[in-house]
Amino acid sequence: MSDKTAKLTIGDETWDLNVREGSVGPDVIDIGALYKDTGRFTYDPGFTSTASCESKITYIDGDQGTLLYRGYPIEQLAEHGDFLESCYLLLYGELPTRAQKDDFVHRVTYHTMVHEQMTRFYSGFRRDAHPMAVMTGIVGAMSAFYHDSTDITDPHQRMIASLRMVAKMPTIAAMAYKYHIGQPFVFPRNDLDYAANFLHMCFAVPCEDYKVNPVLARAMDRIFILHADHEQNASTSTVRLAGSSGANPFACIAAGIACLWGPAHGGANEAALNMLSEIGSVDRIPEFIARAKDKDDPFRLMGFGHRVYKNYDPRARIMQKTTHEVLAELGHQDDPLLQVAMELEKIALSDEYFVEKKLYPNIDFYSGITLRALGFPTTMFTVLFALARTVGWIAQWKEMVEDPSQRIGRPRQLYTGAAPRDYLPIDQRR
Ligand code: CMC
Repeated sequence: MSDKTAKLTIGDETWDLNVREGSVGPDVIDIGALYKDTGRFTYDPGFTSTASCESKITYIDGDQGTLLYRGYPIEQLAEHGDFLESCYLLLYGELPTRAQKDDFVHRVTYHTMVHEQMTRFYSGFRRDAHPMAVMTGIVGAMSAFYHDSTDITDPHQRMIASLRMVAKMPTIAAMAYKYHIGQPFVFPRNDLDYAANFLHMCFAVPCEDYKVNPVLARAMDRIFILHADHEQNASTSTVRLAGSSGANPFACIAAGIACLWGPAHGGANEAALNMLSEIGSVDRIPEFIARAKDKDDPFRLMGFGHRVYKNYDPRARIMQKTTHEVLAELGHQDDPLLQVAMELEKIALSDEYFVEKKLYPNIDFYSGITLRALGFPTTMFTVLFALARTVGWIAQWKEMVEDPSQRIGRPRQLYTGAAPRDYLPIDQRR
């Protein structure tokens, strides 16, 4: 607790409010007792100035363009580590020792199969269903298949549920893809690492050998690292709010997936690639820049702008590098969409409108081009985001459940509807 206080004055009354300091980042004014003390609520739709919780997991400095997982810069984790190491870090707070990592990798690897009855659950969906619709349903249904890890008061069950989520999500996502395209499911392979196993489950078919390209597997792994957690974003806040009622972790993650699907959040990678395809060629960029700046046109440059980053999204930089590596490996350096993306970025970054509003490319700007080159259809992009973000959601959910001060989340409102009035019998109404 700091010795700083903030003063709130309403009329001729003044209250002292505690100011709390984080390890880095802005101080927060603690208004937990505001209603009890003053009879007033605060008003902050979209939570632009509200810290909804205390957390030790992820930190973003939006002005500097930095992202830390448990204190480690995302650039270092993406360059030197692998996804399961980041998972361990997010879940347990420290990078694993060699023995801890081997044990964790083993446990994740041996939880990758899903209950055989779940395979039949997929066939209830239409083949043309969006894979995010399938993901929401299947992950929600996990609580029915893994009922032995839904008691959130038992630390062992919480740990098993966390491992199950991280381990099974690639299998579930690959099955959603296979179902979508009408191919048989491919079982996980324990001799492959996390990302290579996922690519194998997506792209192998039973009738021939499929060898995973290690450059593409490394790119996939890096994409997972970049998406693993991102502080109290909309889907993470959804998971926390759902979990605050005591709901089981599978139900909470399903809620997070539903939230992630929106085009302003995880759906932006799909929307960004669709936008680049619609632009199609460099000469049409000025037309789309003009539309993005036109107040009367709802069009926005997808993959640009961020609620927190008012500088280049650090994930976008790494993603851009990964895009070039993947396209070079596949011999697609001349991909016209990459040319459009690079030119669009250049023009937008020097345009007064984007400069003044501090709109920079975010992670979704380049991820679509990379994922498409890896062989995924646009409908799978947000599914891959959900797969990678699952560890962040589960780490945040665990942190909340294990916080002794945790209470059900229950925002208040500024009510502007009708004041109390009496019921009118139907023949007296106009
Ligand atoms: N193109 C054109 N103008 C934009 C854009 C854009 N992409 N983004 C924001 N603006 C303008 C907006 O019109 C507003 O202008 P004004 O102040 O004149 O009304 C100003 O910038 C501030 O925008 P905002 O909507 O108030 O900002 P926000 O913090 O509520 O929204 C955002 C953030 C990410 C939803 C928004 O920038 C956006 O819609 N971007 C496109 C979608 C996108 O790429 N989303 C992925 C986010 S990163 C992945 C993730 O975390 O899920």
